[in-house]
Amino acid sequence: MSYKISIIEGDGIGHEIVPAALKVLEHTGLSFEWDFVLAGEKAVEEYQTPVPDSTIESILSNKLALKGPLTNLVARGWPSPNVMLRKNLGLFAAVKRARYFEGVGSPFKNADLVVVREAKEDTYAGAEQQVGSDAAIAIKFITRENSLNVANFTFDLARRLGRKKVSITHKANVLKLTDGLFLKSAQEAAKNYPDIECDSLMIDHMAFKLVNDPLDCDVILAPNVYGDILADLIAGICGSLGLGFGGNFGPEAAVFEPVHGTAPTIAGQGIANPIGEILSGAMLLSYIGEEQAAKTIENAVASVLKKGEFLTGDLGGTASTNDITNAIIREMK
Ligand code: NAI
Repeated sequence: MSYKISIIEGDGIGHEIVPAALKVLEHTGLSFEWDFVLAGEKAVEEYQTPVPDSTIESILSNKLALKGPLTNLVARGWPSPNVMLRKNLGLFAAVKRARYFEGVGSPFKNADLVVVREAKEDTYAGAEQQVGSDAAIAIKFITRENSLNVANFTFDLARRLGRKKVSITHKANVLKLTDGLFLKSAQEAAKNYPDIECDSLMIDHMAFKLVNDPLDCDVILAPNVYGDILADLIAGICGSLGLGFGGNFGPEAAVFEPVHGTAPTIAGQGIANPIGEILSGAMLLSYIGEEQAAKTIENAVASVLKKGEFLTGDLGGTASTNDITNAIIREMK
């Protein structure tokens, strides 16, 4: 059997880390057919839109995609390609993960954190308006239906991963109607999962707790904007933004991608850390039931990091993207 997967290389370091991840996936021995499609800067050049219809059609047909990071083109007058993908594909939940690896400079041994970010609403829906010449507003839009969906998704995920606790993160003391609705909906969903502990923390308290005692954090459920920020935070806690990995989920498709962005200042130099992209590929394998192959990749990554011989600059080494990728492939037994 061959898996057909839509591939978006993306922008910046995407051109280096996505080929690295595909090389690792091919080395699992599974059979893949890569369906390369465009989004981001290249799509604007070729199709005059950040996400052409052909990209959406490919992902909806294959139901699976692996993507690199995309440049936010809002400053150039285009809508955000990531927001377009989420909207057009109905991706309502974004899972962001980071874990401690031996050999990586993080004081938090055994940290293994999951953030589930609501991915369609909040101020990222992009409803902004100028109010006179010197003021502007952005609308924070939250619905009960979407909040319930992402909460149910989170508790199901916690169960599947054998996790013990979901912490709902919010600022409902100030934003009573919007964050209040998100919190209330998530607490309602929690009642159907008596086996999973559920607590709620305000976003500022959660930020403090994450850097002070991340081992007491498990699965974090957050509205879109807070979740975006916490995703980078958990990757940093585990040693590097280059290690964070994840996926976006909807009823019709799943799109896997690392936590970080296009890293424009190091793009084209062959020095980016490909591990976030590689682990996103492993997460995709796990999602389609190829647990053994996913484990093989994770173990190979863990082994390379532990040996410390081939580490990229963000991890304190001097290895290139190719060096670390080849080292991971050598460890895949
Ligand atoms: P960024 O994540 O690209 O970079 C932040 C810092 O981390 C930089 O110092 C960068 O060099 C470093 N870094 C990131 N990934 C790395 C890797 N794999 N290996 C080594 N170092 C790495 O965030 P920034 O600079 O705020 O955003 C750049 C662009 O990426 C923007 O256009 C932004 O909108 C976009 N972006 C796209 C995302 C996506 O497509 N999912 C997510 C985040 C940002």
